[in-house]
Amino acid sequence: MTTRTRILTGITTTGTPHLGNYAGAIRPAILASEDANADSFYFLADYHALIKCDDPQRIQRSRMEIAATWLAGGLDVNRVTFYRQSDIPEIPELTWLLTCVAAKGLLNRAHAYKASVDKNVENGEDPDAGISMGLYSYPVLMAADILMFNAHKVPVGRDQIQHVEMARDIGQRFNHLFGNGKEFFTMPEALIEESVATLPGLDGRKMSKSYDNTIPLFTSAKDMKDAISRIVTDSRAPGEAKDPDNSHLFTLYQAFATKAQEAQFRGELLEGLGWGEAKNRLFQLLDGQLGEARERYHQLMSRPSDMEDQLQVGAKKARAVAAPFLAELREAVGLRSFVNQAAAPVATKKKAAKAARFVSFREADGSFRFRLLAADGEQLLLSRNFADGKAAGAVTKQLQRGDALDVRAKALGFSVWLDGAAVADSAEYADEASRDAAIEALRAALAPIED
Ligand code: TRP
Repeated sequence: MTTRTRILTGITTTGTPHLGNYAGAIRPAILASEDANADSFYFLADYHALIKCDDPQRIQRSRMEIAATWLAGGLDVNRVTFYRQSDIPEIPELTWLLTCVAAKGLLNRAHAYKASVDKNVENGEDPDAGISMGLYSYPVLMAADILMFNAHKVPVGRDQIQHVEMARDIGQRFNHLFGNGKEFFTMPEALIEESVATLPGLDGRKMSKSYDNTIPLFTSAKDMKDAISRIVTDSRAPGEAKDPDNSHLFTLYQAFATKAQEAQFRGELLEGLGWGEAKNRLFQLLDGQLGEARERYHQLMSRPSDMEDQLQVGAKKARAVAAPFLAELREAVGLRSFVNQAAAPVATKKKAAKAARFVSFREADGSFRFRLLAADGEQLLLSRNFADGKAAGAVTKQLQRGDALDVRAKALGFSVWLDGAAVADSAEYADEASRDAAIEALRAALAPIED
C-alpha cells in the first residue's frame, strides 16, 4: 500500500472569493484533490477570521460564500475532508498544548505581528496598540491546524511560508519534549504553486481586495461584465495593432483559455481587435467556463442547510482523525485519567517502559521488607528483613541509583548484594535460562535512565 500525501490548507473566512482567489488557489486545490495519491484536508479557517473581523454578519456570510464557492467549483466532498475549523474542538485544545511549548521569541518574529508593531511605532503609538492576543498567537492556531492532521504539504501563498515554518518549529519542540523518542508530529512543508500565475486585477497590479481591483467570481454575470469593462487598457484605437504581451487583459484571458483559444485571441489583437470587443471576448470566455458553477453557487446559497449537512459530514471525518490523536497527546503531556495509574512515586520517576516499582511492607514480627515488581506486576525481588523502615528505604534508594548491580546466582535463583551483604532474593526458577532471563529483566528495570 502506498501512503497518500496529505495536503492541507485553510481559507480565512473574511470576504467573498474573487476571480484571482479562484484561479490562484481554489481551482488548483480542487484539481490537486483529484489526484489518486492525494488525501486532501481543506477547511474554512473561521477562527482565524475572528482575529481580523469583529462583524458577525460578515463572518457568517463569508463562511457560507466560501463554502459555496468550493462546492460549486467542483470539490468532491466524498473524496476530500472539507470542514469548518470551528467544528473541530480538538483544534483549540491542541492550540493550548502548543502555546505552552511555543517560544514567545519565535512569535515576536512573526511578520504580521511585527508589521503591526512597526506601524504603531511609526505613528508614535504604544508598540502593542490595537494588537490582540489573537493576532499575536495566530501562528500557533495555524500550527495546530496543520499538526492536528499531520499534513505533509501545505499549499499557501508566499506570505504564509513563515507560518508553516513556525508550525515545524513548534511541532519539533513538542516532539522533543514529549515524544520520548516518538515523533508525534509530521514536519509539514509549504507548497508554493509556481506554475499558478498570480492573476492581475483591473489595474494590472495583483488582483486583491486591498487594491479594490477585483473581478467578482459568482455574484452575477452582470457584475462580472461591469468589472471587465473597467479593465485598464492602453489608448490604441480599434484597427491599431495591440501588444498582447503587455496587456493584462490578455493575461486574464490566458488564465482560462485553451492553447488554441489563446493563439486565436493573440492573432486578433495583433490584427487590431478593438479593446471593447476584446473585453467582450474575455467575458464570453469566463461566462462560458464559470456560468454553470455560478448557478450551482446560487443554488447552494439558497439552501444553506444542505451545505451545513455536508460540512457536518466533513467535521465528523476530521474529528475521527483528530480525537484519538489528541487523546494521545493529552496522555503525553500528563493529562491522564486517574484510573489505572501506579500509585508508587517510584513508578513516575522511571520511564514508563520500565516502570518497575518497589512495594514496602511490614512483617508480623515488626521487620521491614520490600518487593520489586516489574511493570507487568511480576515479582523480581523480595528483600531480606530490615530492622527499621529507614534501613529498607536506604537499600531501595541505593538500588535505584543505577550503579552496577552485584547479582549472584545460586542454583535456580539469585541474590542481590550491597556492601558485602545479600539484601534481596529472587524466586526459584524452573531452569537456568528462566533464571538468567529474570536477571536480565532485573537489570533492565534498575538501569539508569538515559537522557
Ligand atoms: N493563514 C492562512 C491565510 O490567511 C489561512 C490558514 C489558516 C491556513 N490555517 C491554515 C493555511 C493552515 C494553511 C494551513 O491564508
